[in-house]
Amino acid sequence: MLKLGILGLGTVGSGVVKILEKNAENIKNKVGTEVKIIKILVNNLDKERDIEIDKNLLTDNAEDIINNPEIDIVVELIGGEQPAYDYIMRSIENGKSIVTANKLVIAKYGKRIFRKADENDAQVCYEGSVAGGLPIIRPLQNSLAANRIEKIYGILNGTTNYILTDMSKNKKDFDESLKNAQDLGFAEADPSSDIDGHDAAYKITILSSLAFERFVDVRDVYVEGIREIKSTDLELAHEMGYVIKLLAIAKNGNDGVDIRVHPAFIPEDHPIAMINGTYNCVYLHGDAVGQVMSTARGAGQMPTGSAVTADIIQVAKDINYNQREVQRMDSFLESNVTKIDEIENSFYLRLEVEDKPGVMAHIAKIFGDNNVSLASVLQKQKDNPVVPLVFITHHVKEKDLEKSLNEIKELDDVIEIKSVIRVENDI
Ligand SMILES: NC(=O)c1ccc[n+]([C@@H]2O[C@H](COP(=O)([O-])OP(=O)(O)OC[C@H]3O[C@@H](n4cnc5c(N)ncnc54)[C@H](OP(=O)(O)O)[C@@H]3O)[C@@H](O)[C@H]2O)c1
Repeated sequence: MLKLGILGLGTVGSGVVKILEKNAENIKNKVGTEVKIIKILVNNLDKERDIEIDKNLLTDNAEDIINNPEIDIVVELIGGEQPAYDYIMRSIENGKSIVTANKLVIAKYGKRIFRKADENDAQVCYEGSVAGGLPIIRPLQNSLAANRIEKIYGILNGTTNYILTDMSKNKKDFDESLKNAQDLGFAEADPSSDIDGHDAAYKITILSSLAFERFVDVRDVYVEGIREIKSTDLELAHEMGYVIKLLAIAKNGNDGVDIRVHPAFIPEDHPIAMINGTYNCVYLHGDAVGQVMSTARGAGQMPTGSAVTADIIQVAKDINYNQREVQRMDSFLESNVTKIDEIENSFYLRLEVEDKPGVMAHIAKIFGDNNVSLASVLQKQKDNPVVPLVFITHHVKEKDLEKSLNEIKELDDVIEIKSVIRVENDI
């Protein structure tokens, strides 16, 4: 028999307990021995739970798990940075293997955790930390292991994908769609980690380390969220044959990893453009396999519970049969992140200008002087002294674009630069 201690009995913890109970016989057959929960850590012992649970299993003292010599595997599902990180490290020091869905801790401290695990011959599995039910960590470690992977694109946050889909399909503005997402339980009361892009940044950091075998510091990842996206931009994108998604991007370069999260125009016939609502996807290119895309719901009790329980089965099987399938990380290198102003991209730009002769010529001159060449221009005629001007640029260095926009802002006939959104034509 293998014994589990679970830290946390919230959304995901409850899902894991349900799956372990419901599929106990099947799991026993897969592992070769029974897998039994012997302690569960919670904050509040008196809280009403949505699952039936033997109260004797519950504790509010983490030491009952971390320092319990009977426990083989610690499943961390309390979330957040501390005390989760401390509990993980101390459990490893005590010879336990770890299963976690904590993207923040893995993205921020993965290197230290994996090194500590390698030193202690423990295993760390974290499939649930990226895109909930979507299998991607183990495929990168196993099924895709023969490939050199140079690029990964992902829609890694279901809340923002739901909001952008709702804004686009129902012509709503951001605040209305956010409220709708909150009412439906797809966005938290404090949605900032999702809508400002940090949640997706943790996830792409994890994927990039694994795919490129290079650790990057999550604090160096360029992050821009979706608060500034307007329904006008979604409509114009559609008119020009694009959709707007919050895209997580990682590209392996010679001098560093180009890794970022920001809204992006994507051609509407690209497979990623079709991922709507709360669905997540990961799209990557392997030198042998070619393009691979997988999609699934990126969160929720049972999808995430499924990923976490699969990790438990894997670790339990490895312990029971004295084998090790989980990849070691000790050969991974550390890598720089390419600075955003050195990156080249196409851009969508929406300006509001006065409807006067010569305004286009002034703007075009500034672009020309700063090496910004234009792929297309859309001028919307309105019976109005103020008109919108829309540009799509060819590839330009971010710093050249920024310099030209700073100059354009100063022109008398330019009222405002309304939107600047990157265009990913080469996915
Ligand atoms: N929810 C999802 O769909 C989802 C998807 C992918 C990944 N994840 C990740 O999974 C992890 C768990 O998320 P969740 O949504 O299940 O969280 P949650 O519903 O907030 O549950 C957290 C659980 O941990 C317990 N807890 C929190 N802090 C504690 C502390 N200091 N000491 C003891 N117990 C503590 C809570 O106890 P009480 O019950 O007593 O309050 C609760 O049972 C997070 O890392 C999250 O990012 C979640």
